[in-house]
Amino acid sequence: MNNTYIEFRNVSFRYSEEQPWVLNNVSFCIPADRWVAIIGHNGSGKSTIAKLINGLLFPVKGEIIVNGITVTEETVWEVRKAIGMVFQNPDNQFVGTTVRDDVAFGLENRGVERQKMISKIKSSLEAVSMWDYRLHEPHRLSGGQKQRVAIGGVLAVSPQVIILDEATAMLDPKGRKEIMQTVNNVRLQQGISLISITHDLNEITQADQVIVMNKGEVWLEASPREVFQKEKMLQKIGLDIPFVAKLANEINKDQMILEKQPLNQEELIEGLWTYHSKM
Ligand SMILES: Nc1ncnc2c1ncn2[C@@H]1O[C@H](COP(=O)(O)OP(=O)(O)OP(=O)(O)O)[C@@H](O)[C@H]1O
Ligand SMILES: [Mg+2]
Repeated sequence: MNNTYIEFRNVSFRYSEEQPWVLNNVSFCIPADRWVAIIGHNGSGKSTIAKLINGLLFPVKGEIIVNGITVTEETVWEVRKAIGMVFQNPDNQFVGTTVRDDVAFGLENRGVERQKMISKIKSSLEAVSMWDYRLHEPHRLSGGQKQRVAIGGVLAVSPQVIILDEATAMLDPKGRKEIMQTVNNVRLQQGISLISITHDLNEITQADQVIVMNKGEVWLEASPREVFQKEKMLQKIGLDIPFVAKLANEINKDQMILEKQPLNQEELIEGLWTYHSKM
């Protein structure tokens, strides 16, 4: 694919020679402007992948190419400019004494001029519903509010790739949906890539492509619909598909009633209507 933005080429990684490999010959491509979800059980290597993309770690074997640049200790600063990353626990990502200063810091670092900075801070904090908290201390916010601020900070600097590593885990389902929608809208408007890392399969329905990790290997790379069809196999590797997908598989067990694997309740109902009207 010629619009690849990030490529893993036969990447293997272990934290030290005494420890086992945590990634084994991992290869995949992340296109520019797509949403790719990475899922897998605890310890399957997801966060390690995120840290490798950002050059917090380097492959032991293989190589990682970001926008044509191989990630090495020499290129890491160049590569990081293109990437906005939020981890599950943003506490150690805050540098400012207020929410506003924290977002400002990221912008200052990228040399954004003052007037633009002011408007960026406002629009990005509004996007994550945290503008009212601009003068609060980041450390005193709730877990979910901290995650909102961290995501706002990433949106403000307009990176080419946004990586969210369980970055909405502390939000309630409604908040999570809203934030993911916000980030996805930014992706669509700005044509950037979004990598969302989660072990919640409810969160992958809107992704363009899903990479399923198992024990440090790419177990499957497919669309959400294709992933949901592999219910039994996913269960074997410790992953549970959403209720709607399960219900659909149950309905289709003995007879093909739904022509298309539904991603949500609306599609399930639509599928049932289509079947009914053909009878
Ligand atoms: N700093 C470290 N030193 C040694 N081993 C580590 C380190 N960080 C992670 N590991 C090991 O590497 C493996 C992959 O960890 P990683 O954090 O990438 O998994 P994950 O898929 O993100 O899991 P989770 O869903 O729990 O976040 C695990 O076996 C973990 O114990
Ligand atoms: Mg992790």
